[in-house]
Amino acid sequence: MSEPVLTVENLSVRIAGLHILQGVSFTVAPTGVTVLLGRNGVGKTTTLRAVVGLTPRNGEVRGTVRMGAQSLLSQRTHRLVRGGLGYVPEDRCVFAGLTVAENLRLAERRGTRPAYDRVFALFPELDRRSRQRAGSLSGGQQQMLAIGRVLLNDNRLLLVDEPTKGLAPKVVTEVAEVLERVAESVPVLLVEQNLAVVRRLARDAVVLAAGRVAWAGDAQELLLETALTRSLLGVGSAEGHQPAGPATDQPVGSATDRVAGRRAAAASAPEDGS
Ligand SMILES: Nc1ncnc2c1ncn2[C@@H]1O[C@H](COP(=O)(O)OP(=O)(O)OP(=O)(O)O)[C@@H](O)[C@H]1O
Ligand SMILES: [Mg+2]
Repeated sequence: MSEPVLTVENLSVRIAGLHILQGVSFTVAPTGVTVLLGRNGVGKTTTLRAVVGLTPRNGEVRGTVRMGAQSLLSQRTHRLVRGGLGYVPEDRCVFAGLTVAENLRLAERRGTRPAYDRVFALFPELDRRSRQRAGSLSGGQQQMLAIGRVLLNDNRLLLVDEPTKGLAPKVVTEVAEVLERVAESVPVLLVEQNLAVVRRLARDAVVLAAGRVAWAGDAQELLLETALTRSLLGVGSAEGHQPAGPATDQPVGSATDRVAGRRAAAASAPEDGS
């Protein structure tokens, strides 16, 4: 098997006295989409932010994260991004007061040629609306801008956090189509709660529960396991969107045990048992 593009080993994150990630280990394949799943509040965003060096200052990060042979945790975010780690955050973070063109221009890097042709081929809408203020775009258009901004530069890996959240079904499909095309050339670690999108895009899945990896393996296999999906994600059907609400401490062990022996990987031992 080819080497993973990202290796996360025993990742532990504490923020404000909360031990959010308690020894998370998984890998991301060098091609295609790996999806990071789990109930609300389980630590999916915390995982992506730790990888890209954006844990809040009052947080503590331990463990190992490597992109290829490069160790990431000791490096500043801007260096990681320059090194080819693209990050599309959960809240999109476009500059509302700036135009589409200005938002894109801010993502240009000195010394490299920005790939406007690639971005506009994927998102012709951004070209048409280049003079429009980003704050007046629809949610879907803002998401396209957030993804387009990252694709202006070459990436070795993309981290994309809930790109379809809050979007109308038609726009969800458009975003999924774009991600499908993007993933043909760059591997993607995707946080996504819409299981129809997961079904369409994901090859591998990693499921977080209670601060650890509760399941890892073939995404399509996971979706076939309705009881397991319900137990791990709290969804009633493999098509549904995960309902909002606090995570509950449903036991995942029994369902997980049923698929043990496949590619399922139970969590690595917690760092300190707390
Ligand atoms: N800066 C912070 N300060 C305090 N607690 C935090 C902070 N960031 C995250 N948390 C807590 O860590 C836990 C995990 O949060 P995180 O945002 O990673 O979850 P998530 O899986 O992305 O959830 P969602 O599905 O709602 O996006 C939550 O209980 C959250 O309240
Ligand atoms: Mg999140």
